[in-house]
Amino acid sequence: MVPSRLISSRAVWLPPLLLFAWAAMPGALFAQEESQFPPGYAGTESCAMCHEDVVENYKKNRHYRLETNEKRGWKDRSCESCHGPGAKHSESAAAEDIRNPLKLKAVDADQGCLSCHRNQPLQIGRLQNGHARSQTPCTSCHNVHETGAKATAVIHQTAAGVNQQCAGCHTDIWASFQKPHRHRLNEGVMKCTDCHNPHGSNLARNIRTVHANEPNCFKCHSDKRGPFVFEHAPVRNQGCSTCHEPHGSSNPRMLTRHEVANQCLECHANLLSPSPAGVAGGVPPAIHDLRQPRWRQCTLCHQKIHGSNVSRGLLR
Ligand code: HEC
Ligand code: HEC
Ligand code: HEC
Ligand code: HEC
Ligand code: HEC
Ligand code: HEC
Ligand code: HEC
Ligand code: HEC
Ligand code: HEC
Ligand code: HEC
Repeated sequence: MVPSRLISSRAVWLPPLLLFAWAAMPGALFAQEESQFPPGYAGTESCAMCHEDVVENYKKNRHYRLETNEKRGWKDRSCESCHGPGAKHSESAAAEDIRNPLKLKAVDADQGCLSCHRNQPLQIGRLQNGHARSQTPCTSCHNVHETGAKATAVIHQTAAGVNQQCAGCHTDIWASFQKPHRHRLNEGVMKCTDCHNPHGSNLARNIRTVHANEPNCFKCHSDKRGPFVFEHAPVRNQGCSTCHEPHGSSNPRMLTRHEVANQCLECHANLLSPSPAGVAGGVPPAIHDLRQPRWRQCTLCHQKIHGSNVSRGLLR
């Protein structure tokens, strides 16, 4: 990746030429730069001499605002907001004289980005979430130099593009989305980030939140939100994934069990051992003859399984 871009940027053949130019007129160039920038900085024009295509591309990048904006403090030298002072490197053209975020430890690379992005709401929990803990730096999802279709995980990106990126590391999760009952991520109608905030959130597993701290499921399934006069306790207290597999399932309605009755009886039976979810509901009254198929279709009668405003038994 590096060599091909650099070849096209003419960096490979420019240095000798430049050194020649410096040798020919040493004083003038440096005098000018010293007056314009703080010590050690070279300015973007200098980078452009050897990295022309990078600089051209950069004009379409949101970070280009740093280059043109007086107030943010990086006018005409914004390459160096991420790469550090570049005067020495501009002279030597040596890789070791310039900061490449990809070569830093993840936590150090992130600090560079967060020096500007820490205050955005997106960054809530960033430092505690799984990505930060497991050393998945900003640059593993954001390719800051690419634009358009190649730019990874940028907000202008299509759903399919974001999914592809997440799936690249989370292959097991993506496999679940190949099951018959699932949200339509394959079709590019939804994306992982409809449910997860990759930067972290206040909920476990980076679940995106709506209405303060509720799971984002309610953004699309608002009819399940309530509050109901008669809540079904696990919906409110344990959350949707007690009964549903959010990444897709072989079972209809993305349930965790193939037969609905078995799902219900996990909590509504005289159990010898505690239910898997650790909560017991009441035992169905005796009219329920569970040997008969009719009585095993629990949700045919208990239609308001997520909560009801009229029926304590969640019947309607
Ligand atoms: C005199 C030409 C020249 C100038 C001016 C120049 N570079 Fe470079 N730059 C190069 C060359 C050549 C390489 C490849 C070095 C290598 O791979 O050994 C390079 C590599 C880099 C790298 C990658 C380093 C790595 O670890 O792989 C970064 C980042 C970089 N330059 C940023 C900049 C920035 C920012 C500026 C302006 C402040 C700048 N360069 C100015 C010639 C230049
Ligand atoms: C927002 C931070 C940021 C800004 C601003 C930025 N860079 Fe980079 N740059 C990076 C990161 C991160 C990498 C590591 C590779 C990547 O993610 O694309 C990188 C890689 C590079 C490389 C390595 C070679 C390559 O292309 O893979 C060069 C050269 C480079 N940048 C030059 C520049 C120049 C010139 C500018 C100004 C026009 C600039 N950068 C502005 C963050 C930045
Ligand atoms: C010197 C401050 C600064 C640094 C350092 C910085 N950014 Fe930014 N970043 C900005 C600004 C300013 C914007 C534009 C915000 C806007 O559009 O209002 C931006 C925008 C972005 C965007 C949105 C781009 C888009 O097209 O939607 C992403 C993603 C981003 N930055 C990632 C990064 C990453 C990753 C790093 C570290 C490699 C980084 N930034 C470092 C200031 C910075
Ligand atoms: C696991 C992948 C991933 C990581 C790691 C990641 N991001 Fe993002 N980021 C995304 C995605 C995906 C989006 C697009 C927003 C969406 O789809 O919800 C985004 C959007 C953004 C935006 C643009 C949103 C806006 O406010 O305009 C910024 C800025 C940003 N990220 C900065 C960062 C910074 C800084 C880091 C590192 C501290 C980082 N990201 C780490 C995936 C990631
Ligand atoms: C570069 C690889 C990589 C990419 C790309 C990536 N992840 Fe991750 N993700 C990880 C690693 C590593 C972990 C930590 C695994 C662990 O702790 O068990 C993780 C953890 C998570 C977690 C669990 C977080 C927690 O705190 O428990 C979620 C949710 C997640 N990723 C979602 C996403 C989404 C959504 C995307 C796309 C925007 C994405 N990931 C892209 C590597 C990646
Ligand atoms: C419909 C919403 C939804 C979508 C879409 C979604 N997730 Fe999740 N994800 C969840 C929920 C809810 C959990 C928490 C499950 C639990 O409680 O154990 C979760 C958990 C995770 C975890 C934690 C580990 C695990 O296996 O439970 C990872 C990693 C993850 N998701 C990655 C992804 C990726 C990658 C995508 C896109 C390919 C994605 N998710 C799409 C809702 C979603
Ligand atoms: C971005 C909107 C959106 C979000 C967020 C969302 N869903 Fe959905 N969900 C849908 C749509 C649309 C359908 C209809 C199925 C389809 O896409 O074909 C659906 C269907 C379902 C189904 C029924 C599947 C079937 O086979 O009938 C369940 C169960 C479900 N979602 C649970 C959840 C859970 C749990 C969450 C949160 C972890 C969630 N959804 C988050 C949009 C969403
Ligand atoms: C106690 C188990 C349980 C919990 C918890 C639960 N569901 Fe359901 N859900 C079901 C059952 C059972 C069905 C199938 C109903 C049927 O057969 O008609 C279902 C069906 C659905 C459907 C598709 C049919 C419809 O009514 O739209 C959606 C969407 C859905 N659930 C979303 C959610 C969301 C969102 C949550 C979390 C707020 C949630 N569920 C929590 C058991 C549960
Ligand atoms: C994770 C455990 C769990 C699962 C799974 C579950 N329930 Fe419940 N359910 C409860 C709890 C706890 C209560 C509240 C019991 C109480 O307040 O005494 C409850 C309440 C009820 C009630 C209201 C009557 C009562 O006892 O208060 C009905 C009816 C009901 N559940 C039916 C179902 C059906 C049908 C299913 C399967 C679709 C199901 N439940 C799945 C735990 C569960
Ligand atoms: C043919 C319809 C029907 C089917 C099928 C059915 N139930 Fe019921 N269930 C009822 C009726 C009617 C009541 C009494 C409701 C009342 O007292 O308001 C009831 C009561 C209950 C109660 C106690 C409610 C309370 O208010 O105390 C529970 C728990 C329950 N059912 C669970 C289940 C489970 C679990 C299944 C599936 C294995 C199931 N039911 C299947 C009709 C049905």
